Amino acid sequence: MRVGIVGSGRLGSPLGRLLAVAGHDVFFSDADPARAAAAAARAADGHARGGSPIEAMRFGEVVIMAVGWEAFPAVVAELGVALAGKIVVDPSNPIGERDGAAVVVAVPDGLTSPQYQQHVLGAEVRLVRTFNTKYPNELLELGTVGQRGGARADMPYWGDDDGAKKAVVPLIEDAGFTAIDGGGLSESL
Ligand SMILES: NC(=O)c1ccc[n+]([C@@H]2O[C@H](COP(=O)([O-])OP(=O)(O)OC[C@H]3O[C@@H](n4cnc5c(N)ncnc54)[C@H](OP(=O)(O)O)[C@@H]3O)[C@@H](O)[C@H]2O)c1
Repeated sequence: MRVGIVGSGRLGSPLGRLLAVAGHDVFFSDADPARAAAAAARAADGHARGGSPIEAMRFGEVVIMAVGWEAFPAVVAELGVALAGKIVVDPSNPIGERDGAAVVVAVPDGLTSPQYQQHVLGAEVRLVRTFNTKYPNELLELGTVGQRGGARADMPYWGDDDGAKKAVVPLIEDAGFTAIDGGGLSESL
């Protein structure tokens, strides 16, 4: 599958690497082009390249939004209508940064985190929340074990669009995990 990644930092880089090694075509992007190029180089044992966020968005049959929770509006401003109709994976947790320190952000209006991100991205986006429950080094280690035939860790996923969920399950499995359907976005961790 063609996978676009927006945000090639701590999470986007190893996640894209797992998918590239599994044989998916991965297009890394980042606000910093050098970071996208470095992520593509780290995944060079798979099918990977780097470029701009708009290129990643156009390339991906599935797009992984691996930017900070509070960066979603900036991505929407940059990518605009290109997002409509896309299957978007949301691994974001409501953590922000204040004066250089990480802080937990209160999600407005009693929504779950992905319900809020769905609101930010727009109703046309086919959102699936997953890959949010592991630290990046844990994700890479567990995924690699699973890919090599070892014991597989569970990876929950949530969404309100059944077709989008069905499309994302093979990515979770190919990344080396057992995909566990957690239900709709309202039930998400
Ligand atoms: N790290 C974890 O332990 C972990 C675990 C589970 C889930 N997550 C979630 O995964 C997401 C990414 O976290 P992370 O730890 O990988 O963060 P990170 O290391 O800061 O990586 C995010 C990357 O996205 C880039 N970016 C910011 N705005 C952008 C934009 N508009 N367009 C393109 N790229 C943009 C950032 O560039 P700049 O630095 O230049 O802004 C940075 O390189 C977060 O939502 C987080 O909650 C993280």
